[in-house]
Amino acid sequence: MTSPLFEPLQIGELRLANRIVIAPMCQYSASDGSAGDWHLIHLGHLALSGAGLLILEATAVSAEGRISPDDLGLYSDANEAALARVLGAVRAHSSMPIGMQLAHAGRKASSRAPWQGGAQIPLGEPRSWQALAPSSLPHAPTEDAPLALDEAGLQKVRDDFAATARRAARLGIAGLEVHAAHGYLLHQFLSPIANRRDDRYGGSLENRMRFPLEIYDVVRAAFPAERPVWARISATDWVPGGWDIEGTVALSKALAARGCAAIHVSSGGVSPDQKIVLGPGYQVPFARRVKAEVDVPTIAVGLITEPEQAEAIIAGGEADAVSLARAMLYDPRWPWHAAAKLGARITAPPQYWRSQPREHKDLFENAAFGAR
Ligand SMILES: Cc1cc2nc3c(=O)[nH]c(=O)nc-3n(C[C@H](O)[C@H](O)[C@H](O)COP(=O)(O)O)c2cc1C
Repeated sequence: MTSPLFEPLQIGELRLANRIVIAPMCQYSASDGSAGDWHLIHLGHLALSGAGLLILEATAVSAEGRISPDDLGLYSDANEAALARVLGAVRAHSSMPIGMQLAHAGRKASSRAPWQGGAQIPLGEPRSWQALAPSSLPHAPTEDAPLALDEAGLQKVRDDFAATARRAARLGIAGLEVHAAHGYLLHQFLSPIANRRDDRYGGSLENRMRFPLEIYDVVRAAFPAERPVWARISATDWVPGGWDIEGTVALSKALAARGCAAIHVSSGGVSPDQKIVLGPGYQVPFARRVKAEVDVPTIAVGLITEPEQAEAIIAGGEADAVSLARAMLYDPRWPWHAAAKLGARITAPPQYWRSQPREHKDLFENAAFGAR
């Protein structure tokens, strides 16, 4: 019997060889938004892992939409050329589809990298900038307040998402993930904690969903129709009175009705008051709920670390794919090891075929080697 985790999956017209997705992971290692050698090394080895899909880190649609000054971006010709070099090198040695997460940090912009403490860079300090948001409410009370976006500001954000989607299309990106999670701009519109607008973008659930849905629409329109666009959502704010799973189901239905190819179900990030109940697969129940109520493939994420655990999520119909972040950094050959444990086969580069363990003689697809 084949392992359900290693069954192919369709996300729109994109076919994944298996259900293992590499989650987007910020590297805070770009220069003016441009990818460099770190990205080549980092993405290069992840692309040899045999996963079904690699999603590039949160990629800012504008300089002001970056979380930190070192974030990856795709808003200039220089950014596009730098990423073309990295992708060219990676693709020369891997046929893994590469997606990209399109992001705008909103009020969480102008932050330091996590290893520099991750705090806001106060206005006036070197490398700081004015953050933008639905409302002029800071993420934490002691922080500088963002500027509330006016109509011209909203239009610039729409234009930036569309322009970045067009650049991603030119780069041959296989699919786009609209980042509407983790307390960044689109999530800020969804959550009553961050959105206090009294125009058509605030107040009712319908109004709070309006701008994220508009962004989905402009990205969808700017990206080739045969390549999928999907969304990452925080299923709950983990704060009473905040965004919740009911809103998530409603948003997922609205996205699915527009052709959204998948929902990547995460949680949290909009408020320092969040009380997250952590544990293995802690966000999987949210993915299960979306999958049960909405006709759309779901990707579960969060403390999925063991092959048997991932297999059970797929076999139990809780989600259509699993995505892994930290476990992939810790063990970039996680999919190989999962395939070995679950009796499946996986793609590996020919240069590494000779590493196939004696007890897993049929692990690597097409593997053959000889010597004279
Ligand atoms: C180094 C690192 C960078 C991350 N960057 C992003 C990101 O760019 N976009 C995003 O949506 N989530 C990001 N996350 C969150 C992960 O995608 C994932 O949802 C989270 O780590 C939980 O999954 P895990 O338990 O498998 O690590 C990041 C996580 C890590 C560890």
